[in-house]
Amino acid sequence: MTLQELKAAYVSAYGKEAEAVYFAPGRVNLIGEHTDYNGGSVFPCALSFGTYLLLSKNGGKSVKFRSLNQPEVTELGLDQLTTPLDKTWVNYPLGVFAQYIKRGVAITEGYDILIWGDVPNGAGLSSSASLEVVTAFALNDQLGTGFNRTVLAQIGQKAEHEFAFVNCGIMDQFASANGAKDSAIHLNCDTLEFELVPVKLEGVKILISNTHSPHKLDSGAYNQRVAECKLAVEQLNKVRPLKYLAELTEAEFKSIESAITDPVAHKRARHVVGEVQRTSDAVKALKAGDLVKFGQLMNASHASLRDDYEVTGLQLDTMAEEAWKVEGVIGSRMTGGGFGGCTVSLVKDEAIDTFIAQVGKAYEAKTGLKPEFYIAEIGDGACKLN
Ligand code: GLA
Repeated sequence: MTLQELKAAYVSAYGKEAEAVYFAPGRVNLIGEHTDYNGGSVFPCALSFGTYLLLSKNGGKSVKFRSLNQPEVTELGLDQLTTPLDKTWVNYPLGVFAQYIKRGVAITEGYDILIWGDVPNGAGLSSSASLEVVTAFALNDQLGTGFNRTVLAQIGQKAEHEFAFVNCGIMDQFASANGAKDSAIHLNCDTLEFELVPVKLEGVKILISNTHSPHKLDSGAYNQRVAECKLAVEQLNKVRPLKYLAELTEAEFKSIESAITDPVAHKRARHVVGEVQRTSDAVKALKAGDLVKFGQLMNASHASLRDDYEVTGLQLDTMAEEAWKVEGVIGSRMTGGGFGGCTVSLVKDEAIDTFIAQVGKAYEAKTGLKPEFYIAEIGDGACKLN
């Protein structure tokens, strides 16, 4: 949908012009999976698709939430903005309003809000984070609160914890807030220091393959992984004080891993420690222009997420493993939380068509699902469009 069409949709929804339009992108993570809530680093890029938010003040004491992607319209009084509603998309923007109020910001005027997003839903490309961040960005502008982008990401993350009940890390919201065109973000999720690393791939594209098997982050499996890592930290603390798994090198981990008596927690920890090392190696490889190495690390990341972290499943495994068979594929792995969603692959230009035909056919034959493919364009973080 064009900006013009969005503005026209606002006029038909509310009978007046929107006063402002904001945008925040989805993201794809190149490597560093399930490391963020373990104090490790991640390497995502913001995408050119995302969520748009149009609003105007309504002169009243209520906030109206509408979305062109969803049927329901919700109107809430200014005194009703701190409690989650029963299962609805509105909880994402509402959770952000609640965070502002929690931080002592007074919201004294109502808004008429219209949302539209083009991030495929349930694809693990952070449609929810982009909705949280666009709301946080819009309120920051409207209320003149002057929060920096890192705080906006933290507000979005808290909204996800408290209104969507997913104990996520900071990666998705941070990428949506701080993304930069043609760059990946090497973010240390403990200190929140980050570096933008140019992603100029000569003759190679980032291809996203959607399994169309929806990832179900709120299914509890994600929170269970978070809890398993916490257990590993607790058990390791008997032999060495530490806050996060990411503090351990692989060699240090090997020397104390027997302290983790829970076999599942042990596997989870092994993934995290290995993935932290792979992420740092991958960033170095990209900076050195060594894409072959980068691709090998992507493949190893997938294998670890499959075998030790157990967040892949038939669809993601088929998609990655079929990709590995295609000549001209540099690397391929699941991206995001897992349990369905997308893979990300680095593919030579001349192999793109073969990839889509060959992987698409094999995937459909094995899973009965029709996949979808997108060539990723790396875009900027949240902004005001108008
Ligand atoms: C989801 C979460 C992120 C991160 C990834 C896995 O996308 O929202 O915080 O944990 O899963 O890397």
